[in-house]
Amino acid sequence: MDVFRIEGPVRLSGTVTVNGSKNASLPIMAAAVLAPGKSVLKGAPRLSDISVFSQLLTDIGCKVAREANGNISIDSTAIGKPVGEYDIVRKMRAGICILGPLLARCGKAQVSMPGGCAIGYRPVDIHLRGLRELGAEINLENGYIVADAARGLQGNEIFLGGPFGSTVLGTANVMMAATLAKGTTVIESAACEPEVADLANCLNKMGAKITGIGSPRLVIEGVKQLRPFEYQVIPDRIEAGTFMVAAAITKGCLHINNCRLQDLMAVVDKLRHIGVTVEAEKSGPLRREASEAGCIVTCSGRVRSTDITTQPYPGFPTDLQAQFMALLALADGNSIIIEKIFPDRFMHVAELSRMAADLRKEGSAVIVSGVDKLIAAPVMASDLRASAALVLAGLAAQGTTIINRVYHIDRGYEKIEERLNPVGAKITRESA
Ligand code: EPU
Repeated sequence: MDVFRIEGPVRLSGTVTVNGSKNASLPIMAAAVLAPGKSVLKGAPRLSDISVFSQLLTDIGCKVAREANGNISIDSTAIGKPVGEYDIVRKMRAGICILGPLLARCGKAQVSMPGGCAIGYRPVDIHLRGLRELGAEINLENGYIVADAARGLQGNEIFLGGPFGSTVLGTANVMMAATLAKGTTVIESAACEPEVADLANCLNKMGAKITGIGSPRLVIEGVKQLRPFEYQVIPDRIEAGTFMVAAAITKGCLHINNCRLQDLMAVVDKLRHIGVTVEAEKSGPLRREASEAGCIVTCSGRVRSTDITTQPYPGFPTDLQAQFMALLALADGNSIIIEKIFPDRFMHVAELSRMAADLRKEGSAVIVSGVDKLIAAPVMASDLRASAALVLAGLAAQGTTIINRVYHIDRGYEKIEERLNPVGAKITRESA
């Protein structure tokens, strides 16, 4: 297991480039199952989660290859067994989004029920409710979701909201299944996340008829068949947001390439509010049609405190909550961070506290009292975003931070040390 040794404090300055989105790539890879033939995904990051998903596709009978130019080709001509095995799905919960495509393609599917997760209890009841409303019969057997739609799926009006709002992968699953259902499906309370919109755009390129993309009401007119895709995935907004915080926490200046500011409005708003300058590379308002070219993030002093509540898109993303906690730990004043998507997603609180952050957890909120400095310590990476917060804290802390279990970071950030070191970070990867 690798560890990171991070020397701090540093000031970051220079250019970083955002990779393709992990969370958009995974469901798009699943969509390849909907159309027999060879699909090509461009721009997918080289991450362990992508490799595990490739393994899942290979296991069901697809031929998956990473080509020399970085494209991932998925030949789904033959599906041998429509089964998402426990040994693969337990490594990555996103494996659940193979369920809808397999069911639509094969008329039946079995996918291991995802188990525990570092960020809290994550049920899939809404996925199953949606697929049942499309006519599937679904049972749980030996830890597997066993779904049957021998007579085909039938379009329906479906409400996909839950206790925490919409569901990203639930919407993806039901939307993918509905593309091949008979008749029209209306999904109310659909997730509006850019990753869901990207999947819908890819499905339309495959011949699906989806309208309302990016809104909470998706209308999907079922078609008889889809064709394989060649598709470029969107930039990763969470990686972009993490780089923005890296610039802010080191009082540095980063030019962030391949970043769609229009996907990060809530984050940019918060950064500006606490005193960080975020400029679109091509000046102008951050509209939907704004350029993907990039932005420049500058922070010249200590940030101000603020309140953050995580929400479904377009609200502030839960996937940047931990990184902002690291930043606000050094703010001038007291902040409050409320987690409304995953109320237990606070594995980073204890580790940041080991670095002298002043944090007090109250239910699903954390009160962050800004301190003058963070002090390096050995810490443990837990989930992916919590680990990113520790890297950010390490950049700003006095001394040498050692982060154990770096594989968590590798799940979501491709060689983060090789991308931050050229702009001033001092991160060494060591094999423990
Ligand atoms: N929920 C239910 N029932 C369901 C599905 C979800 O109650 O059937 C609840 C969840 O427990 C949670 C809320 O609804 O409280 C939202 O969960 P959602 O289903 O949207 O999460 P997800 O689709 O499983 C994706 C991302 C996560 C990201 C969340 C929220 C992927 C592969 N994962 O998960 O990303 O945090 O949406 O935006 O797209 C990460 O990248 O680090 C990560 C965890």
